[in-house]
Amino acid sequence: MGEFLSDSDFELYRKLIYDESGIHFSSTNRSILDSRLRERLRDKKLETLQEYYSILIKDKEELKILLDSVTTNLTRFFRNQAHFDAIEHFVVPELLKIRQTERRIRIWSAGCSTGEEPYTIAMQLKELLPPGWSFEVIASDLSLKSLMVGKEGFYPESRIQGVPDNYLSKYFDKKPNGFQIKEEIKKTIRFDYHNLKNDSGQRNLDVIFCRNVLIYFDEAAQKATIERFWDALAAKSFLFIGHSESLFGMNTKFEFVKTDWATFYKKSV
Ligand SMILES: C[S@@+](CC[C@H](N)C(=O)[O-])C[C@H]1O[C@@H](n2cnc3c(N)ncnc32)[C@H](O)[C@@H]1O
Repeated sequence: MGEFLSDSDFELYRKLIYDESGIHFSSTNRSILDSRLRERLRDKKLETLQEYYSILIKDKEELKILLDSVTTNLTRFFRNQAHFDAIEHFVVPELLKIRQTERRIRIWSAGCSTGEEPYTIAMQLKELLPPGWSFEVIASDLSLKSLMVGKEGFYPESRIQGVPDNYLSKYFDKKPNGFQIKEEIKKTIRFDYHNLKNDSGQRNLDVIFCRNVLIYFDEAAQKATIERFWDALAAKSFLFIGHSESLFGMNTKFEFVKTDWATFYKKSV
């Protein structure tokens, strides 16, 4: 099937998506945008991209649906185990010192997709924090479909690979066709719609996980997002980005931390 996106439509749509989300479509992934737009037109029973565009600029809900359709939501439990080793051996021991007055830790999983990342964090904190300590995980994404899966907390057998057996028996209920996250973990997480294009209003956080999200942004959108993370974090806090992502050359105030387990970033002041 030939492409139906003309060069000028491609520019128009890619600018709209970029302005609204920071997601950058390069010429190499133009065909993805082409097929997502075809699907939207089919669903809306529309003939032309111009008609659809005039709907999008008026209708915020349809814009959310389009943005959701162009995101990549691939994720898994304990993705990049090295980060969770660093949380166990470095970050949590540090936070136990930093937060000894409050005895409460707040973590944000920004771009949480279908919930595997925030649930992994929550299970790990449940294991690691001593009695008398509490935690909260904020989990946000712009994909409403993904957030619904996260809120539900039900995963078919194929999606729970990587979850250690002891976590599986402790924190999940076995169902006929999959596994349901237990309420004791679910209640520690707040799933919320949030577009990283905007300030979340979060302040004084101890850790931000934003992994495999910045990769879809161009440099300007990455930098703006990282600056908002700086504002959202407390003095003495930590930032984890994806394995293939880096703040190198971005001129930010974050310090690079290299530990035996993983590399990540730190806000010292
Ligand atoms: C590949 S998934 C990564 C999920 C998880 N962090 C991980 O590393 O496994 C990327 C997620 O980022 C979300 N995303 C992309 N652009 C976003 C934006 N502007 N605001 C919020 N979430 C965004 C997508 O909807 C998607 O769920």
